[in-house]
Amino acid sequence: MSTTKKIFGFMLLMITTFTVLLSCCSATVYKVGDSDGWTAKDGMYRDWAEGKEFHVGDSLVFEYDRNFNDVTQVSGALELEFCDSSTPKAVYKSGHDVVTLKEPGYHHFISSNQSQCTSGQRLEVLVVHDPSLPTPPPLPRKILPFGKTYKVGDSQGWNVYDSDFYDKWSEEKQLHVGDSLLFEYDNEANDVLEISGDLEFKSCDPTSPVAVYKTGHDLVRLTEPGVHYFISSKTGHCEAGLKLRVVVSVPKLSPIDRLIRWLRTFRLHHH
Ligand SMILES: *[C@@H]1O[C@H](CO)[C@@H](O)[C@H](O)[C@H]1NC(C)=O
Repeated sequence: MSTTKKIFGFMLLMITTFTVLLSCCSATVYKVGDSDGWTAKDGMYRDWAEGKEFHVGDSLVFEYDRNFNDVTQVSGALELEFCDSSTPKAVYKSGHDVVTLKEPGYHHFISSNQSQCTSGQRLEVLVVHDPSLPTPPPLPRKILPFGKTYKVGDSQGWNVYDSDFYDKWSEEKQLHVGDSLLFEYDNEANDVLEISGDLEFKSCDPTSPVAVYKTGHDLVRLTEPGVHYFISSKTGHCEAGLKLRVVVSVPKLSPIDRLIRWLRTFRLHHH
């Protein structure tokens, strides 16, 4: 009797383990370029990526000769188009690199060897959340630190002024996740576009904004660490200096801040 119970218990344990394993590890590993690997072939990676659905958690394996290649992840489509590896998001060089796709959205990979990249060694993949898995909830706003609000350009607001005015303005600021930027301007003369890449920023390219604001009194909450870029889409304004690049860091909390934050979270949860 007790043996039967043990066997039954053991089987139950095995079934549970398998179920957990299966449901946790449905991620797919893709070898980029299949048997050709990561190399220069015109149009090849567009064809390779076509028809594949990449999910958050999947991995890309890049196999190549590391003597004259690498895998450089760049921030945008423009960098990919111009084979610009000057501001990479990440660089891999082992010759056998496994890159896990951790975020949804477009991911761009090139070889930093210019001639290799221009002859086709570049890959763009669109990553989506696996529809069969529950979407992770967005970072709840209430547990973001309670930040400060900065009025962009101070009394000058968001207007064409001096070509390096906004550079200087942002240089003096230490922005943190949870802070906000307030853009004040005449909404008939201007707007605010958040854009994604350094090259778009340098070339004042408004064609693929991440967000567009137009009210003339826009409060933009900085919810993600990293570099954020804002420009005006109005002709000539960005070129004349109406562009802002800010670096947002994760706040270092003092023990007191942590306590206050914890107490606030606690209070919010138990209302
Ligand atoms: C770039 O790739 C070419 C082959 O296409 C190779 O001959 C050259 O040495 C590489 N350049 C560098 C800097 O690795």
